[in-house]
Amino acid sequence: MKLRSLLTILLAPLATAAAEPAQGLSVTFESGDRADRRVDRLLALHVPAGQPATPWIPAGAFKARWEGSIDAPVRGVFSLWAETSGKFRLSVNGQPALEGAGTKSVQLNKGPNAVVAEFESDGKADAFVRAGWASKDFPREAFPPTALSHTGDEALAKALRLREGRALFANLNCAACHQDAKLPAKGTGMPEYGQNAPLFAELGAKFDRAWLTRWILDPASFRPHSLMPAVLNGPDAEQQAADLAAMLTQGAAPNATPAADPALAPAGAALFANLGCVGCHRQPDAKGDDALGRLPLAHVRVKWRDGALKDYLLDPAKNWPAARMPHFRLTEEEASQLAAYLLTKAPAAKLTAKEGDAARGAGLIAAAGCLNCHAGMPATTQPPLAKVAAAGAKGCLSDGAAGRGRAPAYDLSGAERAALLEFMKSDVAAGLAADVPAEFATRNLRALNCAGCHNLDGRVSSWKKLDEECRQLRSLLPPKEHVEGEPVPDAPVPALTWQGEKLRTAWMTEFIAGRVEDKPRWWLIGVMPGFTHHAPTLALGLGQQHGFGPKDPEDPKPDPARIAVGEKLLGMDGGFNCITCHDVGEKEATAVFEAPGINLALSAERLRKGHFHRWLLNPNRLDPETKMPKYADGDGMTQLTEHFNGKAEDQFEAIREYLNTLKK
Ligand code: HEC
Ligand code: HEC
Ligand code: HEC
Ligand code: HEC
Ligand code: HEC
Repeated sequence: MKLRSLLTILLAPLATAAAEPAQGLSVTFESGDRADRRVDRLLALHVPAGQPATPWIPAGAFKARWEGSIDAPVRGVFSLWAETSGKFRLSVNGQPALEGAGTKSVQLNKGPNAVVAEFESDGKADAFVRAGWASKDFPREAFPPTALSHTGDEALAKALRLREGRALFANLNCAACHQDAKLPAKGTGMPEYGQNAPLFAELGAKFDRAWLTRWILDPASFRPHSLMPAVLNGPDAEQQAADLAAMLTQGAAPNATPAADPALAPAGAALFANLGCVGCHRQPDAKGDDALGRLPLAHVRVKWRDGALKDYLLDPAKNWPAARMPHFRLTEEEASQLAAYLLTKAPAAKLTAKEGDAARGAGLIAAAGCLNCHAGMPATTQPPLAKVAAAGAKGCLSDGAAGRGRAPAYDLSGAERAALLEFMKSDVAAGLAADVPAEFATRNLRALNCAGCHNLDGRVSSWKKLDEECRQLRSLLPPKEHVEGEPVPDAPVPALTWQGEKLRTAWMTEFIAGRVEDKPRWWLIGVMPGFTHHAPTLALGLGQQHGFGPKDPEDPKPDPARIAVGEKLLGMDGGFNCITCHDVGEKEATAVFEAPGINLALSAERLRKGHFHRWLLNPNRLDPETKMPKYADGDGMTQLTEHFNGKAEDQFEAIREYLNTLKK
């Protein structure tokens, strides 16, 4: 009885939490007799012809149904709109609101309004939907993620668990050891599936041998939730790890402990703050738990051999294309400063390990399964997938050492184990066979920790939350007078929320890959690091989440007269004087230190047409902190009546057409 009441108390908050609304809309997909559920950030989708809408739905005709609510800021009339390729219906508070593409005025209540939206694609052409609203207070926009919510149910929770399990199965490389002839070939299907672990290259020159032994024994003790399991677990594990470490470091010169120049450390500390390393990593001398779950770096001094840490920072993906640590395009000097900071602050405790025998290690490396992940060697000795899937919470999925037997140990939470079990109960091979970029983006925004540096859907980035820690790191350097034109540390990093509708896919791909030479916001001290491996699918997927494909419609043939007006409107002589803040090509802004803007010559390459207009009509609506002025009033008119009778959209379009002629 007592236990029962205790349980009721413990479980009560959980039960209500499950019914609490969460951000985004719940969506159900159907195709033939197949159905699938997920949560969408926006009321939007883009599914290219011949591709599936979700990994569990076949390509071709499908239906989608979004449910949830839209939170209106006030009670009043809103203009709802939709753009779509297929059959679309939107109802609000139980009343039909939109049928097909178009716009309609609808009364909304203050607070949540129930929405149901249905879409049908015949599967023959690219399918898309984009829907949103406008009001007297703000111009036409997609429904913002912060205004959308849904309440979950068990079927949705199950579909989300299935997705989580699938991502874990692929990232943790379960199929490297548990094989099945039906599994997709490597390099096909879900992108994270079948990726090799880091190449074993010059390990002896990079890593301390005692560290390597301890890593093999228990990777999670250095990197919580490591993708690599502790493979060795018998009574000889310590000796076997030492043998493997001896084999992997064979031929390397005796250990050279890293020498760090303490004089460079303060500059490195400032870089650690200014480049946003703090968003993903704890400081090397940090103690206790970390509320943000950042990766520890306390072991760098005992791990890396002299010079190797700097080389790693210069190219973290050198031996592992799928690495999550991004590429910062550091200079040699910056890499030396960062390495000096990390090595001087990290504890210098000496690790101990048994002496190993390289020959024994060579005999073990294939048998232990190391090469299944690290070199893509086919599994031979481990049980096949079908057997493992039927076993339930045993072996690698057992909670604790008791039921594990000789199976590897991953650092998994209970929820992760449950998710893996859910996925293993499903048709694993079919689940891995296909993927959709929109879901790839959802998964990898999280896996790559983009929110370490960027605000997203109303949530504040770790970097922003760490302002105080950053100030302390910078304060190790002597204070410096700010020189105009030099970047500053506290300028805001752009939010990720609207990037999928803002940036053209081609430019975004190059930018996320770290291949764009120019830094758009020269006034910002941080840089966007490169995620080369993930960039193309991330950019494609972010666009899809907002209902956009990779190709924007061609612009109409430019009209020279309009272009001339556009050029005038940009300038100070009878124009809006945009050039006070914005460089335009080689021409520098005239009063730039007020509120610098991005070089407008980049606009044509960067910005989708719809977003260009949305931004100009009301910059504050998109970024409440921006200093860019609003030129249009609530009726879409500007103060310059000389052109297009003062109609803002026509004037802004003329500016855009002029900017299109400036492609850099
Ligand atoms: C390095 C190879 C390797 C990898 C990778 C691996 N396993 Fe295993 N797994 C094993 C071995 C070895 C056993 C134990 C077989 C035995 O005891 O005979 C096992 C056992 C299991 C069992 C119990 C099977 C049974 O019949 O009792 C399950 C379930 C399992 N693994 C699931 C997984 C999952 C899920 C993953 C990915 C998160 C995974 N494994 C990754 C090697 C591996
Ligand atoms: C977006 C998150 C992110 C940012 C930002 C980031 N890192 Fe990392 N870093 C990682 C991840 C994840 C790893 C683990 C290896 C991997 O998955 O590629 C890592 C690994 C490392 C390692 C190796 C750790 C080890 O165990 O030896 C060092 C050193 C490091 N990062 C330093 C830095 C520095 C310095 C910066 C800033 C210039 C930085 N990182 C910025 C995510 C990040
Ligand atoms: C299930 C796949 C898997 C197995 C099995 C596996 N590893 Fe790994 N290993 C990884 C992954 C993934 C990483 C990257 C670490 C991370 O991000 O957590 C890694 C990292 C490493 C590293 C660090 C490499 C670097 O350049 O940073 C070494 C060394 C290593 N593994 C050795 C081994 C040895 C030795 C074995 C066999 C005892 C083994 N691994 C078994 C997946 C695996
Ligand atoms: C270490 C911090 C950091 C991380 C991690 C990071 N970014 Fe960025 N990102 C930036 C900074 C700083 C900028 C602004 C650069 C500039 O304009 O000069 C930026 C800009 C961008 C832009 C261009 C925005 C615009 O309006 O020009 C996109 C798109 C973007 N990031 C996407 C991503 C994605 C996707 C991820 C995760 C895979 C990510 N970022 C992770 C720091 C980061
Ligand atoms: C008072 C300074 C100021 C003036 C004047 C100004 N802007 Fe801006 N503009 C900004 C700032 C600040 C941003 C946001 C930069 C960021 O995203 O970090 C911006 C952003 C933009 C962007 C998005 C650029 C991109 O590539 O992401 C466009 C387009 C733009 N402005 C056009 C204009 C036009 C056209 C005018 C004149 C009608 C104008 N601006 C006037 C400050 C200004």
